Amino acid sequence: MKITLVNDENEFDTQAAWRVIGEILHNPWAVIGLSTGRTTKNMHLRIARIFQEYPFDLSNVTFFGLDEITNVPREYAGACYTMLRTELIDALRIEDRNFILPPTQSDNFDQECIRFQKALEYRGGIDLQILGLGWNGHLGFNQPGTPFESETWVSQMDEVLEARIRQETQTPPDIQLGGLTLGIKNIMQARKIVLVAKGESKAEIVRAMLRGPVTPDIPASVLQLHPNCEFLLDAAAAQYI
Ligand code: GLP
Repeated sequence: MKITLVNDENEFDTQAAWRVIGEILHNPWAVIGLSTGRTTKNMHLRIARIFQEYPFDLSNVTFFGLDEITNVPREYAGACYTMLRTELIDALRIEDRNFILPPTQSDNFDQECIRFQKALEYRGGIDLQILGLGWNGHLGFNQPGTPFESETWVSQMDEVLEARIRQETQTPPDIQLGGLTLGIKNIMQARKIVLVAKGESKAEIVRAMLRGPVTPDIPASVLQLHPNCEFLLDAAAAQYI
């Protein structure tokens, strides 16, 4: 396992940004999976800033988000589509055809899952997947208990997140909210993975992910088995390992 430790948040964001830029320089046709949340926000802004100062060729790079909330407006500020657009995709002037995310609204999400997965396969599969770490070890929207064999699917999101999204979007209880996500199997098929975690609140789960048993109860523990996964951690997140 490759574990990279950095001292502070500033270095963390820079290092994380360089992982994406390095991949693009190495492979101008790269297919790169992004992850949303507090951990990756500054890293996205940093990539955008570096691009503005030192532009690099992005015409053949594909970006996608590994998960999305279902049954909310795509323009909702918490939708992965809108987060990725505002934090990174628009600033990099990525063409629509090179930014892949399933819709937030559909009559047939099973079909959307297949379409999403096929679109990535069509482009040759995932070269680099950036992963955030959920508070309980979830990856994307794959909650504890998700089988390692899972492929792109719509999961039930955890109660806390669901309550927040429901309130922010004024979604009534009869409309089901879900988390469309690459499955664990799809994630494990990425050629390279960088798991990013920062802050004290992640310290316990980082330890469980790296030092505990490999188990579906902690989905991120499966990354111990990936042949090319780097764990990028700041000192606060790494304090118990
Ligand atoms: C959500 C997303 C995940 C992300 C996680 C971490 O659950 N679905 O893809 O990795 O949040 O979020 P944060 O970085 O805010 O802790």
